[in-house]
Amino acid sequence: MGKDVIVACDFDSKEKALAFLDKFTERKPFVKIGMELFYAEGPDIVREIKKRGHKIFLDLKLHDIPNTVKKAMSVLKELDVDMTNLHAAGTNRMMAAAIEGLTRADGTRPMLIAVTQLTSTDQESMEKDLLIKEPIDRVVMHYAQNAKVSGLDGVVCSPLEAGKVHELCGIGFITVTPGVRFADGDIGDQKRVTTPARAKEIGSDYIVVGRPITAADDPIAAYNRCIEEFIG
Ligand code: C5P
Repeated sequence: MGKDVIVACDFDSKEKALAFLDKFTERKPFVKIGMELFYAEGPDIVREIKKRGHKIFLDLKLHDIPNTVKKAMSVLKELDVDMTNLHAAGTNRMMAAAIEGLTRADGTRPMLIAVTQLTSTDQESMEKDLLIKEPIDRVVMHYAQNAKVSGLDGVVCSPLEAGKVHELCGIGFITVTPGVRFADGDIGDQKRVTTPARAKEIGSDYIVVGRPITAADDPIAAYNRCIEEFIG
């Protein structure tokens, strides 16, 4: 499993996203396209960034009835992204349907990973709003196991959970971890953060890094620092 740094391309327009990516003249980063950019620009932005030689994680977090998710995934597979995702809360049947929809005629498909509980959800909101009374760590691990039995490739989780996910679901089950900050950096609105070096020690497979790179004075230097710390 290739370890990599995924740059969260959180911009609200094609112009801003491409101007940012233009700075990368040597190594072309693995790019995450989220809802903001995708809803602003549509599927063409995915084609455009792909054409420039980047790998793409399309972070749209699908969650609907199995048939709808299967059909949506079937559309996404034509975009030739490298990784995409859904909410494990949509149930095992929805996840299995997603795999079916995403698989191309030749048997290949993009990596498919699951969101377990969002990191913005805490024990209190899970109990009060969702009426889930189990400890949140247990819920996260249960959803990860559901993703594994449904045939998915991994989960999005906190770097702090990556070791436990690997213990339970196997070392080949990938962990994609946001919440990464440099030791001397600003943590912004993230709560539980780790450095790229620490994420490597814990065993994350992919780190997702946004503002420490996109808002840096020198994004290339910040990206290279992530690569050095995380891949070495
Ligand atoms: O700028 P920053 O490094 O905080 O960006 C992290 C990226 O990862 C953002 O695109 C954010 O939406 C995403 N993300 C996250 N936490 C999650 C899931 C996704 O920060 N649990």
